Amino acid sequence: MSDHESLRSHDEKKKRRMKWAAYIAAFAVFQVIVILVFVMVVMKVRTPKFRIGDGVVVQSLTTGDASSSPSFNMSFSAPIRIKNNNFGPYKYDATLVNFTYGGIQVGQATIPKSTANFMGTKKLDVTVSVSSAPLTDTSGLSRELNSGILTLSSQARMNGKSEIMLIFKKKKATNMNCTMEFEVQAKKIKSVECK
Ligand SMILES: *[C@@H]1O[C@H](CO)[C@@H](O)[C@H](O)[C@H]1NC(C)=O
Ligand SMILES: *[C@@H]1O[C@H](CO)[C@@H](O)[C@H](O)[C@H]1NC(C)=O
Ligand SMILES: *[C@@H]1O[C@H](CO)[C@@H](O)[C@H](O)[C@H]1NC(C)=O
Repeated sequence: MSDHESLRSHDEKKKRRMKWAAYIAAFAVFQVIVILVFVMVVMKVRTPKFRIGDGVVVQSLTTGDASSSPSFNMSFSAPIRIKNNNFGPYKYDATLVNFTYGGIQVGQATIPKSTANFMGTKKLDVTVSVSSAPLTDTSGLSRELNSGILTLSSQARMNGKSEIMLIFKKKKATNMNCTMEFEVQAKKIKSVECK
């Protein structure tokens, strides 16, 4: 081998080494990106959505006279929705839902402990009985009964655990804050809005 040839092969080896180093570096960068995407998309724990869905059904509704005895008794079934947008199940504790009229509690419902599946929505119906008996100030109720629309709110805080990829467990709480309007004469739901 001449000096010239050995120099050339040395150069080629060096070039090949550099090429490999570049491949390895590119692969490492790619790996880091894959891991970051995985951490940001898959491992991120999103807050499940907890709300009352469309399809509230009034079972009974009685009201007192708007001016002489503003009052109501009502029972209805409420479709509860727990939407879980995580890459794993959301296991939640038994949860109390408070129903209020003008900030005063007029009824409660209990959601039993259960699980919302991987990327799924848990659906269940609860039956709720509400009564105006706890209200001390009925002036607002008197106005509402005159207008024919009864407005209730529901609040709840659900505690639970998200199990991402069935390995990582993270505590996650979600709040319900809904407003429902009922048509008194027709005895049916008019609207449900949740935050
Ligand atoms: C609501 O129920 C209570 C207790 O059963 C009763 O005393 C009241 O008269 C009822 N009011 C209406 C408006 O039905
Ligand atoms: C529901 O009412 C109970 C009392 O009856 C209270 O302890 C709880 O904090 C209330 N929950 C919410 C979310 O307002
Ligand atoms: C529910 O929504 C109402 C109206 O925006 C807000 O004033 C209230 O603070 C909310 N309550 C909770 C518990 O988030």
